[in-house]
Amino acid sequence: MDDNTGIKILTIDDEPYIRDSVKSFLEDYGFEVIEAGDGRQGLEAFQLQKPDLVLCDLRMPEMDGLEVLGAVTERSPETPIIVVSGAGNIGDTVQALRLGAWDYIIKPIQDMNVLYHSVNKGLERARLIREKNKYQKDLEDANTRLQASLDDLKRTRDQLVQSEKMAALGGLVAGVAHEINTPIGVGVTAASFLQTKTEELQKLYDADELKRSNLEIYLSTIDEVARSILINMERAAELISSFKQVAVDQSSEEKRFFNLKDYIGEVLLSLRPRYKKTGHGIEVNCSGDLEIFSYPGAYSQIVGNLVINSLVHGFEGVDKGKMIFDISRKDKTVMFVYRDTGVGMTEEQISKVFDPFYTTKRGKGGTGLGMSIVFNLVTQTLEGTIQCKSTSGKGVEFTMKLPA
Ligand SMILES: Nc1ncnc2c1ncn2[C@@H]1O[C@H](COP(=O)(O)OP(=O)(O)OP(=O)(O)O)[C@@H](O)[C@H]1O
Ligand SMILES: [Mg+2]
Repeated sequence: MDDNTGIKILTIDDEPYIRDSVKSFLEDYGFEVIEAGDGRQGLEAFQLQKPDLVLCDLRMPEMDGLEVLGAVTERSPETPIIVVSGAGNIGDTVQALRLGAWDYIIKPIQDMNVLYHSVNKGLERARLIREKNKYQKDLEDANTRLQASLDDLKRTRDQLVQSEKMAALGGLVAGVAHEINTPIGVGVTAASFLQTKTEELQKLYDADELKRSNLEIYLSTIDEVARSILINMERAAELISSFKQVAVDQSSEEKRFFNLKDYIGEVLLSLRPRYKKTGHGIEVNCSGDLEIFSYPGAYSQIVGNLVINSLVHGFEGVDKGKMIFDISRKDKTVMFVYRDTGVGMTEEQISKVFDPFYTTKRGKGGTGLGMSIVFNLVTQTLEGTIQCKSTSGKGVEFTMKLPA
């Protein structure tokens, strides 16, 4: 026999003998049965006892079955309610089913097994509904938690991207300082040399010892030194203006027209301190008249990451490495291919190179964000595609297709 201990059934019927027979039958099966003699009492018992299932007559004094049914289904739609009604009340029964009754039994109950079957079916269905609701709630909860951690991740990623940008900008500033140091230094030396020579001349003049030959030497010195100052100051001004553009582009997200070859040249200039003394070389194959309307800041970050990666990863233990940009335009697409002649990558590295935080230099300065930022810039900002090919020992090749 099924174990029905602890399961409460409320039977609401104004005919005591029906209640009695239902009660003793169900109690034989281990159910706990509560009785109510009319609709009002029934509803009270329902609220007080919270039964697992309700059996309800339709025609009753005080409050009829349909009213009880309405109240029960409204308060607790998950409680099964089975209508028990006389054979003559088919219309009411149909109405009850429409109002939310789960099943009906015709009185007088000829075969008690029909009652047992209906009760069991109702309880089983209620159990399934509870389970389904629980799963659904669990799922919703899990979903909410997932959404929250996703939001968290997105925030963290944005912060990291931001700090990566700042780091790149910092690197750029260091590069500027370094590059400009030389021409400024030469300028300062030349100017102070000029000052010394002028003081010497002044002394001769004051002592009335100035000879024509002194003046001639002085004049030719001035010419040479002034020329040197000019060249170096011009070089510094040129460096500053190209750095300025790259820096502005790197920190802003504006779209503009620019000449791709010139722009890459400027970006590479800002990277010069990083590779100048390494013996590695860069080659840019790109037509001088390739003008595009796009985001220069994105290009500068992409170029920067590719070059730095070749220097840091590709050329580890390699002399005279080469970095090659092959850029061409095909209709409305810029074919942007970057290659290096470094150590290359393994299959595993290739498959993970765009994953955020994937790095083979953890703890040695790598965060593993560089190529994932490149991936996002290419696919989202520039709306293009990027692919990576490599043979271990033979360098890497990144192919980008970017809308011009
Ligand atoms: N040119 C390359 N040659 C060989 N391996 C490379 C090259 N470029 C990238 N890799 C590999 O891909 C990994 C991921 O590159 P990514 O730029 O995303 O991170 P990272 O350079 O390690 O760190 P970060 O750029 O954040 O400082 C590198 O750690 C390296 O193993
Ligand atoms: Mg990197």
